[in-house]
Amino acid sequence: MSYTTMEVSDKVFDDAATAQMERIVADLGRMYHERNEALREVTRAHHEALLRLSLAADFRDDDTGVHIMRIGYLAEALALALGEAASFAHTLRRAAPMHDIGKIGVPDQVLKKPGAFTAEEREVMNKHPVMGAEILGRSRIPLFQLAAEVALTHHERWDGGGYPNGLSGEGVPLSGRIVAVVDFFDALTMDRCYRPAFPDDVALEMLAQQRGTAFDPRVVDTFIAHAADMIALRDRINTEPPTFEMLVGAA
Ligand SMILES: [Fe+2]
Ligand SMILES: [Fe+2]
Repeated sequence: MSYTTMEVSDKVFDDAATAQMERIVADLGRMYHERNEALREVTRAHHEALLRLSLAADFRDDDTGVHIMRIGYLAEALALALGEAASFAHTLRRAAPMHDIGKIGVPDQVLKKPGAFTAEEREVMNKHPVMGAEILGRSRIPLFQLAAEVALTHHERWDGGGYPNGLSGEGVPLSGRIVAVVDFFDALTMDRCYRPAFPDDVALEMLAQQRGTAFDPRVVDTFIAHAADMIALRDRINTEPPTFEMLVGAA
């Protein structure tokens, strides 16, 4: 079979057009990949900066900095135990450590006060969820959206008596309900400047007492049902605290 001159020039043209199209597709693929890499890098850098700010807040709050790590991992474990999707649990692990980032804006004389707060001091302290949500900003990145949600809602109560917005029941986002429970348990089982740590069984009892008042009953029940695993996870984190890279790196 032979081609006419016209057919040959058509074929050359088609081949050139196909090759050019393939180059364009390859270039677009490369650009898409590079864009995603750059976005991941920006997210990582942003996450690390905000985690370090959370760590600074945690150090001021009389701690070693491991509390925020424990909250991340315990919140993830509890979300999974509640049957939530792995992707949500994984994002919660990376978001929850920033729950108290707003405490960076609470003065020392309030933050470090050993006794009960006056009404004015309580008011200052209770601003930390809103300040935290403002620091985390209105990001388009899901990790920071979830972190801001956690910061804003981790002191809401199931019965509506919490702050800053007095949300109640399932009106409190699940992320906030989960972090409220692990934060309560973890804070009780930590030595504080004004009291030694409560034993685990006492802390679990205190958690059970707040079932349906401060905390979502299903979240409390699930935590208590998995208490042995939660305590083992906490102990593992204390023995070998995860690095920032472990928390930030896993995209
Ligand atoms: Fe808080
Ligand atoms: Fe906390």
